[in-house]
Formats: sequence, structure tokens, C-alpha cells
Amino acid sequence: MKHETKKLIIANWKMNPATLKEAEALLGSIYRGAKKVKNVEIVLCPPAIYLPVLARLSLKTFSAGGQDCFYENPPTGGGVYTGGISPLMLKNIGCRYVIVGHSERKKYFGETDDIINKKLKAVLFVGLGAVLCVGEESRDSFDSRGRWTRELNPIIKEQIKAALNGIKKSQIGRVVVAYEPVWAISAGKTKAVDAASPDDVLSAKIFIKKTINDLYGRKIADNMRVLYGGSTDSKNAAGFIKDGQMDGLLVGASSLKASEFIKMAKSVAVE
Ligand code: PGA
Repeated sequence: MKHETKKLIIANWKMNPATLKEAEALLGSIYRGAKKVKNVEIVLCPPAIYLPVLARLSLKTFSAGGQDCFYENPPTGGGVYTGGISPLMLKNIGCRYVIVGHSERKKYFGETDDIINKKLKAVLFVGLGAVLCVGEESRDSFDSRGRWTRELNPIIKEQIKAALNGIKKSQIGRVVVAYEPVWAISAGKTKAVDAASPDDVLSAKIFIKKTINDLYGRKIADNMRVLYGGSTDSKNAAGFIKDGQMDGLLVGASSLKASEFIKMAKSVAVE
């Protein structure tokens, strides 16, 4: 089976777990489970501090990814940027992907469209794959005259255009778009809203492909992988793949439970 036709499932551990011991235990359990999963590309994005542990395990079973990076000096991968981690460092420790533009980076770390564009360029410069997150803030909104509007399309279009500004056709093949509506992230935890439905994500995917088509043409749009992220679990994962026609998932909370995450990986596999 061709690499690109496999579904892609990415674990985003965010700022978890708190101890190296827990990280080792979680990685070990996922590693043992992942060995039995066929025809799925599994990527784990732990906090960068735990990446060396992951690098010691067989990267045939899964690959590693960074949750973020800093954009300055991509060629040398070094510089006077306290706290920064360069894409080259991530590559050298064995990462294949870097998540760029996650909504939590925007909310808590002040990331702007311009910063996201610079990060994306830096990631692609060193030859890594980028998981570009896009998504609208709220499910529904109302215009100034109180009329209901679906926020999704104009926002997604602007996010994609800004992030991909100046990215060459030759590099775009290494970009995966993750549709992550902000209102659906961590919904499982708060129960404030429901996760998106397969229909929601399908219409987002079609719109994302159209936007890519307008920017880069049909072939690139056809080949672009689109993932969904936001309160996914072992119960809804298969629906997003089958009915939502997603190319994979970006998983937050459910990736911190090895058995749940492995169940999800199995359920998205295509025979
Ligand atoms: P969640 O997070 O699965 O916990 O909603 C997804 C994400 O933020 O990538």
C-alpha cells in the first residue's frame, strides 16, 4: 500500500504528561499496541522534552513529530532565541512532521498568521512535513444585522492563504491540512458543545480542497491530505474517515490513553 493512501493518525499530547516516567510508560504501551496496527501511519507528537525517548524506539512502528518550532535561522538550526526549538533540531532527533498553527498556540502564545507562515516555511525548508491547523472559532455566528452565517468558509480561506503565502508548488506536497474547528476541540472534556459531525468535516474538506485548487491547481488539491481534529475518540473515529472522508485524524485527549488511541488507529485503517 502506498504511503499516501494510508490513513494518518497523529497524537498531540500537548503539555502532557508531567513526568518522564509517565511519558515512558505511555510510549511503551502505544508502541506495543501500534506494532499490531496495519496500514495506518501513526505519528506521535509528545512535548519536545520527551522526543529522545521516542527516538530510541523503532520508528518503523510510528514516527515522531514536533508540536511547534521556532522559525529563525532554519539553515543552521541555531541562534540566540531562548526557549526556541528549531525545525532542524526536530529533524535531527528523528521527527518527520511538525504541527504548525495549532489554535492553542494562537490563543495562549500569541501566534499570528505571519508567524504561522514563517514557521511553515522553516519546517518545509529543512525537509520536514508540516501539519497545518486551520479552523473557525465558533460554529455559528451572526452578521451585523443579526442574520445567521456559517463562519467556516471565509475564515478557513484566509487562514490557508496567509499560511501558504510564498510556499512553492514544489514544497506543498509536504503539507497536510488539519481541520480543527476551535469550538470542537476538547469538547469531550467540557461537554459544552458536541464534536463536529462527519457532515461538518466533509463540507470543510471540500472547501479546503477548493481553496488549494484555486491556489495551486487540481493535481495538488487532489493529493492534499486533510485531517480532522477535535474531540475524536474510539467511538467517532471511523465515522470521520468513512462518512467524513477524512485522510486521518489529529488526536488530543484520546491520545493520552494508549488503549483508546490504539483502538482509534485500528478503526481508521483501510484494508
Ligand atoms: P482534542 O484535541 O482531541 O482533545 O479535542 C485535538 C487537538 O487540539 O489537536
